[in-house]
Amino acid sequence: MSSRPVRTLLRAASHRALLKEKFPWTLSPLVVGAPMRVFSGPELAISIYRAGGLGFIGPGIKAANIIIDLEEVQSQLLKENSPNSKSAELLPVGVGFQVWNGDLEKAVIAVSKYRPCAVWLFAPRSGQSDLVSWIIRLREASFNTSIWVQVGTLKEALDVASNTVAPPDVLVIQGAEAGGHGRASDGIGLITLLPEISDALESIEINNAAKSIPLIGAGGIADGRGAVAALGLGASGVALGTRFLASTEARINESYQTEIIRATDGASTTGRTQLYNHLRGTFGWPEEFSPRGLLNQSWTDYKAGVPFDELKKLHDEAVKEGGNSAWGPNGRTATYASASVGLIREVQDAEIIVRKLREDIISITKSLEMSIN
Ligand SMILES: Cc1cc2nc3c(=O)[nH]c(=O)nc-3n(C[C@H](O)[C@H](O)[C@H](O)COP(=O)(O)O)c2cc1C
Repeated sequence: MSSRPVRTLLRAASHRALLKEKFPWTLSPLVVGAPMRVFSGPELAISIYRAGGLGFIGPGIKAANIIIDLEEVQSQLLKENSPNSKSAELLPVGVGFQVWNGDLEKAVIAVSKYRPCAVWLFAPRSGQSDLVSWIIRLREASFNTSIWVQVGTLKEALDVASNTVAPPDVLVIQGAEAGGHGRASDGIGLITLLPEISDALESIEINNAAKSIPLIGAGGIADGRGAVAALGLGASGVALGTRFLASTEARINESYQTEIIRATDGASTTGRTQLYNHLRGTFGWPEEFSPRGLLNQSWTDYKAGVPFDELKKLHDEAVKEGGNSAWGPNGRTATYASASVGLIREVQDAEIIVRKLREDIISITKSLEMSIN
Protein backbone atom coordinates (compact mmCIF):
# COMPACT_ATOMS: atom_id res chain seq x y z
CA MET A 1 0.00 0.00 0.00
CA SER A 2 1.41 3.42 -0.95
CA SER A 3 2.12 6.05 1.70
CA ARG A 4 -0.31 8.87 2.44
CA PRO A 5 1.79 11.53 0.64
CA VAL A 6 1.98 9.33 -2.46
CA ARG A 7 -1.78 8.69 -2.38
CA THR A 8 -2.33 12.46 -2.07
CA LEU A 9 -0.35 13.06 -5.23
CA LEU A 10 -2.07 10.26 -7.13
CA ARG A 11 -5.44 11.73 -6.19
CA ALA A 12 -4.32 15.22 -7.23
CA ALA A 13 -3.23 13.79 -10.59
CA SER A 14 -6.65 12.22 -11.19
CA HIS A 15 -8.28 15.53 -10.20
CA ARG A 16 -6.11 17.28 -12.79
CA ALA A 17 -7.76 15.10 -15.43
CA LEU A 18 -11.19 16.14 -14.10
CA LEU A 19 -10.24 19.82 -14.32
CA LYS A 20 -8.95 19.38 -17.86
CA GLU A 21 -12.27 17.77 -18.83
CA LYS A 22 -14.25 20.56 -17.21
CA PHE A 23 -12.11 23.39 -18.64
CA PRO A 24 -10.94 21.88 -21.96
CA TRP A 25 -8.92 24.91 -23.19
CA THR A 26 -6.70 24.81 -20.11
CA LEU A 27 -3.27 23.28 -19.87
CA SER A 28 -2.31 21.13 -16.93
CA PRO A 29 -1.44 21.94 -14.18
CA LEU A 30 -4.18 24.53 -14.02
CA VAL A 31 -3.02 28.11 -13.42
CA VAL A 32 -5.76 30.31 -12.01
CA GLY A 33 -6.05 34.09 -11.70
CA ALA A 34 -7.83 34.80 -8.39
CA PRO A 35 -10.90 37.09 -8.38
CA MET A 36 -9.38 40.19 -6.79
CA ARG A 37 -12.04 42.79 -6.01
CA VAL A 38 -11.95 45.49 -8.73
CA PHE A 39 -8.38 44.57 -9.80
CA SER A 40 -9.26 41.40 -11.74
CA GLY A 41 -11.34 42.55 -14.70
CA PRO A 42 -12.27 41.19 -18.13
CA GLU A 43 -8.93 42.05 -19.76
CA LEU A 44 -6.95 40.11 -17.16
CA ALA A 45 -9.32 37.12 -17.20
CA ILE A 46 -9.24 36.91 -21.02
CA SER A 47 -5.43 37.08 -21.13
CA ILE A 48 -5.16 34.25 -18.61
CA TYR A 49 -7.66 32.23 -20.68
CA ARG A 50 -5.57 32.84 -23.83
CA ALA A 51 -2.52 31.43 -22.06
CA GLY A 52 -4.39 28.22 -21.19
CA GLY A 53 -5.31 29.22 -17.65
CA LEU A 54 -8.54 30.15 -15.90
CA GLY A 55 -9.01 33.80 -14.99
CA PHE A 56 -11.65 34.95 -12.51
CA ILE A 57 -13.22 38.41 -12.55
CA GLY A 58 -13.44 39.91 -9.06
CA PRO A 59 -16.39 41.66 -7.44
CA GLY A 60 -16.78 45.27 -8.53
CA ILE A 61 -17.46 48.35 -6.42
CA LYS A 62 -21.15 47.89 -7.22
CA ALA A 63 -22.79 44.45 -7.45
CA ALA A 64 -24.14 45.25 -10.94
CA ASN A 65 -20.58 45.73 -12.29
CA ILE A 66 -20.24 41.99 -12.78
CA ILE A 67 -22.87 42.19 -15.52
CA ILE A 68 -20.89 44.92 -17.31
CA ASP A 69 -17.69 42.88 -16.97
CA LEU A 70 -19.25 39.66 -18.27
CA GLU A 71 -20.83 41.52 -21.19
CA GLU A 72 -17.36 42.83 -22.01
CA VAL A 73 -15.86 39.31 -21.94
CA GLN A 74 -18.62 37.96 -24.15
CA SER A 75 -18.34 40.70 -26.75
CA GLN A 76 -14.53 40.53 -26.75
CA LEU A 77 -14.54 36.77 -27.32
CA LEU A 78 -17.24 37.01 -29.99
CA LYS A 79 -15.15 39.65 -31.78
CA GLU A 80 -12.20 37.28 -31.76
CA ASN A 81 -14.51 34.44 -32.82
CA SER A 82 -13.19 32.43 -29.90
CA PRO A 83 -14.39 28.79 -30.02
CA ASN A 84 -15.68 29.16 -26.45
CA SER A 85 -17.79 32.25 -27.07
CA LYS A 86 -20.87 30.67 -28.65
CA SER A 87 -23.91 31.34 -26.53
CA ALA A 88 -24.71 27.65 -25.94
CA GLU A 89 -21.39 27.11 -24.20
CA LEU A 90 -19.94 28.38 -20.98
CA LEU A 91 -17.82 31.53 -21.00
CA PRO A 92 -14.19 30.50 -20.46
CA VAL A 93 -13.74 32.85 -17.51
CA GLY A 94 -14.91 32.64 -13.90
CA VAL A 95 -16.48 35.17 -11.54
CA GLY A 96 -15.88 35.68 -7.82
CA PHE A 97 -18.37 36.79 -5.19
CA GLN A 98 -17.94 37.68 -1.54
CA VAL A 99 -20.81 35.98 0.21
CA TRP A 100 -21.03 38.16 3.36
CA ASN A 101 -21.92 41.33 1.45
CA GLY A 102 -22.66 40.02 -2.05
CA ASP A 103 -25.96 40.55 -3.83
CA LEU A 104 -27.23 37.03 -4.54
CA GLU A 105 -30.07 38.20 -6.79
CA LYS A 106 -27.70 40.13 -9.08
CA ALA A 107 -25.25 37.23 -9.02
CA VAL A 108 -28.01 34.84 -10.16
CA ILE A 109 -28.99 37.19 -13.01
CA ALA A 110 -25.36 37.51 -14.14
CA VAL A 111 -24.60 33.78 -13.93
CA SER A 112 -27.79 32.66 -15.68
CA LYS A 113 -27.35 35.19 -18.49
CA TYR A 114 -23.61 34.82 -19.19
CA ARG A 115 -22.93 31.30 -17.87
CA PRO A 116 -19.32 31.70 -16.71
CA CYS A 117 -17.49 28.37 -16.52
CA ALA A 118 -16.88 28.78 -12.79
CA VAL A 119 -18.02 30.78 -9.78
CA TRP A 120 -15.70 31.37 -6.80
CA LEU A 121 -17.33 32.01 -3.43
CA PHE A 122 -15.54 33.42 -0.41
CA ALA A 123 -16.14 34.74 3.08
CA PRO A 124 -19.62 33.71 4.22
CA ARG A 125 -20.76 34.86 7.64
CA SER A 126 -20.07 32.15 10.20
CA GLY A 127 -22.11 29.01 9.69
CA GLN A 128 -22.92 27.40 6.40
CA SER A 129 -26.40 28.72 5.69
CA ASP A 130 -25.43 31.73 3.51
CA LEU A 131 -22.99 29.68 1.51
CA VAL A 132 -25.49 26.87 0.98
CA SER A 133 -28.12 29.30 -0.36
CA TRP A 134 -25.57 30.80 -2.76
CA ILE A 135 -24.48 27.38 -4.05
CA ILE A 136 -28.04 26.13 -4.54
CA ARG A 137 -29.22 29.29 -6.33
CA LEU A 138 -26.15 29.57 -8.57
CA ARG A 139 -26.40 25.89 -9.55
CA GLU A 140 -30.01 26.44 -10.50
CA ALA A 141 -28.93 29.50 -12.50
CA SER A 142 -26.34 27.57 -14.54
CA PHE A 143 -26.06 23.87 -13.83
CA ASN A 144 -22.75 23.33 -15.66
CA THR A 145 -21.00 26.23 -13.98
CA SER A 146 -18.42 24.81 -11.60
CA ILE A 147 -18.78 26.04 -8.01
CA TRP A 148 -15.52 26.85 -6.23
CA VAL A 149 -15.26 27.78 -2.56
CA GLN A 150 -12.17 29.35 -1.02
CA VAL A 151 -11.39 28.17 2.52
CA GLY A 152 -8.56 28.85 4.98
CA THR A 153 -8.89 26.27 7.77
CA LEU A 154 -9.40 22.52 8.01
CA LYS A 155 -12.74 23.07 9.75
CA GLU A 156 -13.99 25.35 6.98
CA ALA A 157 -12.87 22.83 4.35
CA LEU A 158 -14.62 19.93 6.08
CA ASP A 159 -17.81 21.91 6.71
CA VAL A 160 -18.02 22.90 3.05
CA ALA A 161 -16.95 19.56 1.56
CA SER A 162 -19.20 17.43 3.75
CA ASN A 163 -22.33 19.37 2.89
CA THR A 164 -24.33 16.90 0.82
CA VAL A 165 -27.07 19.41 -0.03
CA ALA A 166 -24.74 21.91 -1.68
CA PRO A 167 -21.33 20.32 -2.28
CA PRO A 168 -18.65 22.40 -3.99
CA ASP A 169 -16.99 21.24 -7.22
CA VAL A 170 -13.58 22.63 -6.26
CA LEU A 171 -12.00 23.89 -3.04
CA VAL A 172 -9.42 26.67 -3.11
CA ILE A 173 -7.13 26.26 -0.12
CA GLN A 174 -5.92 29.69 0.93
CA GLY A 175 -2.75 29.81 3.02
CA ALA A 176 -2.01 32.66 5.43
CA GLU A 177 0.57 34.13 3.03
CA ALA A 178 -2.25 35.29 0.74
CA GLY A 179 -2.77 38.93 -0.13
CA GLY A 180 -6.15 40.52 0.50
CA HIS A 181 -8.66 39.00 2.88
CA GLY A 182 -7.96 35.69 4.55
CA ARG A 183 -8.36 34.15 7.97
CA ALA A 184 -7.73 36.81 10.62
CA SER A 185 -6.33 34.86 13.55
CA ASP A 186 -6.52 31.17 12.68
CA GLY A 187 -4.73 31.32 9.33
CA ILE A 188 -1.79 29.03 8.71
CA GLY A 189 0.76 28.57 5.93
CA LEU A 190 -0.15 26.53 2.87
CA ILE A 191 2.62 24.00 3.57
CA THR A 192 0.67 22.43 6.44
CA LEU A 193 -2.87 23.50 5.59
CA LEU A 194 -3.14 21.89 2.17
CA PRO A 195 -1.89 18.35 2.92
CA GLU A 196 -3.91 18.18 6.14
CA ILE A 197 -7.07 19.09 4.25
CA SER A 198 -6.20 16.62 1.52
CA ASP A 199 -5.73 13.81 4.07
CA ALA A 200 -8.96 14.68 5.85
CA LEU A 201 -10.98 14.64 2.63
CA GLU A 202 -9.67 11.19 1.87
CA SER A 203 -10.76 9.93 5.27
CA ILE A 204 -13.77 7.66 5.46
CA GLU A 205 -15.47 10.02 7.93
CA ILE A 206 -16.34 12.31 5.05
CA ASN A 207 -18.85 11.48 2.33
CA ASN A 208 -17.45 9.76 -0.73
CA ALA A 209 -18.04 12.67 -3.10
CA ALA A 210 -15.62 14.77 -1.03
CA LYS A 211 -12.80 12.56 -2.26
CA SER A 212 -13.31 13.77 -5.79
CA ILE A 213 -13.06 17.49 -5.01
CA PRO A 214 -9.93 18.96 -6.63
CA LEU A 215 -7.87 21.26 -4.42
CA ILE A 216 -6.33 24.47 -5.76
CA GLY A 217 -3.48 25.94 -3.70
CA ALA A 218 -3.41 29.72 -3.09
CA GLY A 219 -1.39 32.07 -0.94
CA GLY A 220 2.17 33.24 -1.51
CA ILE A 221 2.59 31.57 -4.91
CA ALA A 222 4.39 34.02 -7.18
CA ASP A 223 6.54 31.84 -9.43
CA GLY A 224 7.30 28.28 -10.48
CA ARG A 225 8.96 27.42 -7.17
CA GLY A 226 5.84 28.16 -5.12
CA ALA A 227 3.68 26.43 -7.70
CA VAL A 228 5.74 23.22 -7.62
CA ALA A 229 5.65 23.31 -3.81
CA ALA A 230 1.84 23.55 -3.85
CA LEU A 231 1.59 20.70 -6.37
CA GLY A 232 3.85 18.63 -4.12
CA LEU A 233 1.49 19.28 -1.20
CA GLY A 234 -1.43 17.80 -3.14
CA ALA A 235 -2.85 20.72 -5.11
CA SER A 236 -4.24 19.96 -8.57
CA GLY A 237 -3.66 23.54 -9.66
CA VAL A 238 -2.52 26.88 -8.31
CA ALA A 239 -4.23 30.26 -7.92
CA LEU A 240 -2.29 33.51 -7.91
CA GLY A 241 -3.55 36.92 -6.87
CA THR A 242 -0.79 39.39 -6.05
CA ARG A 243 1.41 38.24 -8.95
CA PHE A 244 -1.35 39.40 -11.31
CA LEU A 245 -1.53 42.81 -9.61
CA ALA A 246 1.80 43.26 -11.39
CA SER A 247 0.34 42.47 -14.81
CA THR A 248 -0.32 44.98 -17.58
CA GLU A 249 -4.01 43.98 -17.59
CA ALA A 250 -4.73 44.52 -13.87
CA ARG A 251 -7.18 47.36 -13.11
CA ILE A 252 -4.79 49.03 -10.70
CA ASN A 253 -3.39 52.48 -9.98
CA GLU A 254 0.17 52.82 -11.30
CA SER A 255 1.55 53.91 -7.89
CA TYR A 256 -0.03 50.87 -6.22
CA GLN A 257 1.53 48.63 -8.87
CA THR A 258 4.93 50.29 -8.45
CA GLU A 259 4.71 49.48 -4.76
CA ILE A 260 4.09 45.79 -5.44
CA ILE A 261 7.29 45.72 -7.52
CA ARG A 262 9.33 47.76 -5.03
CA ALA A 263 8.40 46.04 -1.78
CA THR A 264 10.45 43.18 -0.34
CA ASP A 265 10.52 41.16 2.88
CA GLY A 266 6.82 40.41 3.06
CA ALA A 267 7.31 38.88 6.51
CA SER A 268 8.02 42.28 8.00
CA THR A 269 6.48 44.69 5.50
CA THR A 270 3.02 43.10 5.18
CA GLY A 271 0.48 42.28 7.85
CA ARG A 272 -3.21 41.58 8.44
CA THR A 273 -5.27 44.41 9.86
CA GLN A 274 -8.76 45.82 9.47
CA LEU A 275 -7.31 49.35 9.75
CA TYR A 276 -7.22 49.97 5.99
CA ASN A 277 -10.76 48.65 5.47
CA HIS A 278 -11.93 51.13 8.09
CA LEU A 279 -9.92 54.03 6.65
CA ARG A 280 -11.58 53.35 3.29
CA GLY A 281 -14.99 53.28 4.94
CA THR A 282 -15.52 49.52 4.68
CA PHE A 283 -17.03 48.05 7.84
CA GLY A 284 -18.84 44.82 8.58
CA TRP A 285 -16.44 42.13 7.36
CA PRO A 286 -17.06 38.94 9.43
CA GLU A 287 -14.53 38.97 12.25
CA GLU A 288 -12.94 35.72 11.04
CA PHE A 289 -11.41 37.61 8.09
CA SER A 290 -8.80 40.32 7.80
CA PRO A 291 -6.78 41.59 4.81
CA ARG A 292 -3.03 41.27 4.29
CA GLY A 293 -1.35 44.32 2.79
CA LEU A 294 1.75 46.46 2.86
CA LEU A 295 2.01 48.39 6.12
CA ASN A 296 2.62 52.10 5.55
CA GLN A 297 2.44 55.43 7.38
CA SER A 298 -1.16 54.94 8.53
CA TRP A 299 -0.09 51.78 10.33
CA THR A 300 2.99 53.42 11.89
CA ASP A 301 0.85 56.30 13.17
CA TYR A 302 -1.87 53.95 14.39
CA LYS A 303 0.70 51.98 16.39
CA ALA A 304 2.01 55.26 17.81
CA GLY A 305 -1.48 56.02 19.12
CA VAL A 306 -2.74 58.60 16.60
CA PRO A 307 -6.56 58.67 16.94
CA PHE A 308 -8.63 57.11 14.14
CA ASP A 309 -10.35 60.39 13.15
CA GLU A 310 -6.96 62.01 12.53
CA LEU A 311 -5.74 58.97 10.58
CA LYS A 312 -8.88 59.06 8.47
CA LYS A 313 -8.43 62.77 7.68
CA LEU A 314 -4.80 62.23 6.64
CA HIS A 315 -5.81 59.13 4.66
CA ASP A 316 -8.52 60.94 2.71
CA GLU A 317 -6.17 63.83 1.88
CA ALA A 318 -3.51 61.39 0.70
CA VAL A 319 -5.98 59.52 -1.51
CA LYS A 320 -7.08 62.81 -3.06
CA GLU A 321 -3.44 63.68 -3.79
CA GLY A 322 -2.68 60.15 -5.11
CA GLY A 323 0.80 58.92 -6.11
CA ASN A 324 3.33 58.48 -3.30
CA SER A 325 1.06 60.19 -0.77
CA ALA A 326 -1.42 57.36 -1.16
CA TRP A 327 0.87 54.36 -1.85
CA GLY A 328 4.46 53.61 -0.87
CA PRO A 329 6.26 53.54 2.49
CA ASN A 330 5.06 57.05 3.33
CA GLY A 331 1.67 56.46 1.79
CA ARG A 332 -1.53 56.09 3.74
CA THR A 333 -4.01 53.94 1.88
CA ALA A 334 -4.71 50.23 1.47
CA THR A 335 -2.10 48.36 -0.56
CA TYR A 336 -3.42 44.83 -0.26
CA ALA A 337 -0.66 42.39 -1.18
CA SER A 338 0.74 38.97 -0.42
CA ALA A 339 3.67 37.94 1.75
CA SER A 340 5.23 37.07 -1.65
CA VAL A 341 5.86 40.70 -2.68
CA GLY A 342 9.64 40.23 -2.53
CA LEU A 343 9.40 37.67 -5.35
CA ILE A 344 7.57 39.98 -7.73
CA ARG A 345 10.06 42.18 -9.57
CA GLU A 346 8.44 43.27 -12.82
CA VAL A 347 5.15 44.09 -14.48
CA GLN A 348 4.46 41.65 -17.31
CA ASP A 349 1.58 40.67 -19.55
CA ALA A 350 -0.60 38.07 -17.83
CA GLU A 351 -0.13 35.71 -20.78
CA ILE A 352 3.63 35.82 -20.24
CA ILE A 353 3.23 35.31 -16.48
CA VAL A 354 1.10 32.20 -17.02
CA ARG A 355 3.28 30.71 -19.77
CA LYS A 356 6.52 31.35 -17.84
CA LEU A 357 5.00 29.87 -14.68
CA ARG A 358 4.14 26.69 -16.53
CA GLU A 359 7.58 26.48 -18.19
CA ASP A 360 9.22 26.88 -14.79
CA ILE A 361 6.97 24.23 -13.22
CA ILE A 362 8.11 21.78 -15.90
CA SER A 363 11.82 22.69 -15.60
CA ILE A 364 11.82 22.57 -11.80
CA THR A 365 10.02 19.22 -11.74
CA LYS A 366 12.53 17.77 -14.23
CA SER A 367 15.47 19.15 -12.32
CA LEU A 368 14.14 17.69 -9.05
CA GLU A 369 13.69 14.35 -10.72
CA MET A 370 17.29 14.38 -11.99
CA SER A 371 18.87 15.64 -8.78
CA ILE A 372 17.09 13.47 -6.23
CA ASN A 373 17.83 9.76 -6.27
C1 LIG B 1 -5.72 42.93 -3.86
C2 LIG B 1 -6.42 41.64 -3.59
C3 LIG B 1 -7.81 41.57 -3.62
C4 LIG B 1 -8.48 40.36 -3.37
N1 LIG B 1 -9.83 40.31 -3.45
C5 LIG B 1 -10.47 39.10 -3.30
C6 LIG B 1 -11.88 39.00 -3.51
O1 LIG B 1 -12.57 39.98 -3.78
N2 LIG B 1 -12.46 37.77 -3.38
C7 LIG B 1 -11.71 36.64 -3.07
O2 LIG B 1 -12.27 35.56 -3.00
N3 LIG B 1 -10.39 36.74 -2.85
C8 LIG B 1 -9.75 37.93 -2.97
N4 LIG B 1 -8.40 38.01 -2.79
C9 LIG B 1 -7.65 36.79 -2.34
C10 LIG B 1 -7.38 35.85 -3.48
O3 LIG B 1 -8.54 35.13 -3.77
C11 LIG B 1 -6.27 34.82 -3.16
O4 LIG B 1 -6.60 34.07 -2.04
C12 LIG B 1 -4.91 35.43 -2.93
O5 LIG B 1 -4.64 36.48 -3.81
C13 LIG B 1 -3.85 34.36 -3.08
O6 LIG B 1 -2.66 34.79 -2.53
P1 LIG B 1 -1.53 35.64 -3.29
O7 LIG B 1 -2.04 37.04 -3.30
O8 LIG B 1 -0.35 35.42 -2.43
O9 LIG B 1 -1.38 35.07 -4.66
C14 LIG B 1 -7.72 39.19 -3.05
C15 LIG B 1 -6.32 39.27 -3.05
C16 LIG B 1 -5.67 40.47 -3.32
C17 LIG B 1 -4.17 40.49 -3.32
